[in-house]
Amino acid sequence: MPEKILSAGLMGLKVQLVEVEADVGGGDLGLFSIVGLPDKAIFESKERVRSAIKSIGVQFHRRKIVVNLAPADFKKQGPGYDLPIAVSILSIHYDLAEDFEKAVFIGELSLNGDLRPVRGILSIVDYLKKIKIEKIYLPQQNSFEAKLIKGIKVFPVRNLKELFYHLKRKKMINELADFKVVFPKVDNFFDMKNIKGQRQAKRALEIAAAGSHNILLFGPPGSGKTILAKSLVSILPSLNLEESLEITKIYSIAGRLGQKSLIFKRPFRSPHHTSSSASILGGGAWPRPGEISLAHRGILFLDELPEFSRSVLENLRQPLEEGLVNICRTSNSVVFPARFMLVSAMNPCPCGYLGDKNKKCICSPGQLLNYQKKISGPISDRIDIFIEVPRVNFNNLIRRDLEESSIEIKKRVEKAKNIQLERFKSLNIFTNNEMNIEHLKKFCFLDKLTEQLLREVVDKLSLSARSYFRVLRVARTIADLAGNEEISFHDVAEALQYKAQLGN
Ligand SMILES: Nc1ncnc2c1ncn2[C@@H]1O[C@H](COP(=O)(O)OP(=O)(O)OP(=O)(O)O)[C@@H](O)[C@H]1O
Ligand SMILES: [Mg+2]
Repeated sequence: MPEKILSAGLMGLKVQLVEVEADVGGGDLGLFSIVGLPDKAIFESKERVRSAIKSIGVQFHRRKIVVNLAPADFKKQGPGYDLPIAVSILSIHYDLAEDFEKAVFIGELSLNGDLRPVRGILSIVDYLKKIKIEKIYLPQQNSFEAKLIKGIKVFPVRNLKELFYHLKRKKMINELADFKVVFPKVDNFFDMKNIKGQRQAKRALEIAAAGSHNILLFGPPGSGKTILAKSLVSILPSLNLEESLEITKIYSIAGRLGQKSLIFKRPFRSPHHTSSSASILGGGAWPRPGEISLAHRGILFLDELPEFSRSVLENLRQPLEEGLVNICRTSNSVVFPARFMLVSAMNPCPCGYLGDKNKKCICSPGQLLNYQKKISGPISDRIDIFIEVPRVNFNNLIRRDLEESSIEIKKRVEKAKNIQLERFKSLNIFTNNEMNIEHLKKFCFLDKLTEQLLREVVDKLSLSARSYFRVLRVARTIADLAGNEEISFHDVAEALQYKAQLGN
């Protein structure tokens, strides 16, 4: 008897349960059609399903077969419906032993019946558990990813034949056993101990890492901006399981998990300035996360910031503010998380030597204006920390003094992070940078003198209200690094100094 087979599809991170039902009609020898708003991949699925069913020695039905995918108004994309379609057709011929109301089937079939992995499994399984689905049959390569969600039975399937025997109770597939996630020790990418001097820049990076603040490094060519930015990952707080799962969902949808089942490291993404808007922000016919989402809970590094197109920079405004990106399409819109730390680097002018003690800047006033205009306004408003990276002179570069290692700096960062986690434990935010105005009122009390300093400098530099609050957040992080509950005059003064360094 034909059964309704459950499957699931994705639109962005949103999951939709899909019902697949095959029916046989009269006449039309061997005709096979699929209805329910299928995209091109599902038409191709007909060929794969037909061939996979033949490969296990089952003859296709001699009458017309119609497969319906419901609900019709959900746009079904991708090859993951092959497996439920094949099972629904098999259920026409055979009695299959399964409680089909509690089981979900997902997987792409190859012509010989083998199963191929599909994207987005982690988000799908997370949702299926919530709606009380009891088990899922999926490609073996996706099974460890699925098992990260506890409380749902995962059956790894290698090929259609194996599943067919299982459903006929001839030879059972074993459920994947529970395993404990062990975070491997993350290797130290680029240790700050290899960077000579640059004390102020390192201090600024430590503050940025502790509170997840946006930072811009500027200085002449070769001064070490790029290596400093790259070394930042080594002092970021370690990921917790919840954050790891959030990031893994995004990589799973992007089809970038590879052999891994869980992302353990904070992402560091550094798209080139010639990258397209879609690759940075996300997009495509079947919307995929862009670089800003792949950088979620990690770093988005924009080296040579003014070289990025104005439209890309403008489009970063919403994600920087809200921690997500809305990709609008004609038929629907998709939301991906994008809570990243923006780390950028630039020269102070096109020739690179503006303000240099030893080399003369050769830029015209017009060139200068154009260059700085690119990051003026909305983007510079959203950068919390501007820090100059001057050239380290040769003698200092070859000194044998020991620099502080990333492990030491990371310890302080983690301490400050734990203070934040404790402070925000009932608020669904993790870092100082995520505080809204209500939170700021509650957690960033200033005494009269400090408040007056802040107001005066904000007025003098014509900073926006947004900048005012950003300075407060950075001051909160500086106090947290020192382990102080109260924000002091000095904390605010230091935070103000970082906001006032470029173009002010
Ligand atoms: N403080 C430092 N300690 C050790 N090495 C350094 C330091 N500063 C620069 N270097 C060396 O100089 C090289 C150039 O540094 P980097 O590429 O980070 O410069 P940059 O400021 O990004 O330059 P550009 O503006 O041209 O992009 C690095 O590969 C690094 O080896
Ligand atoms: Mg560089």
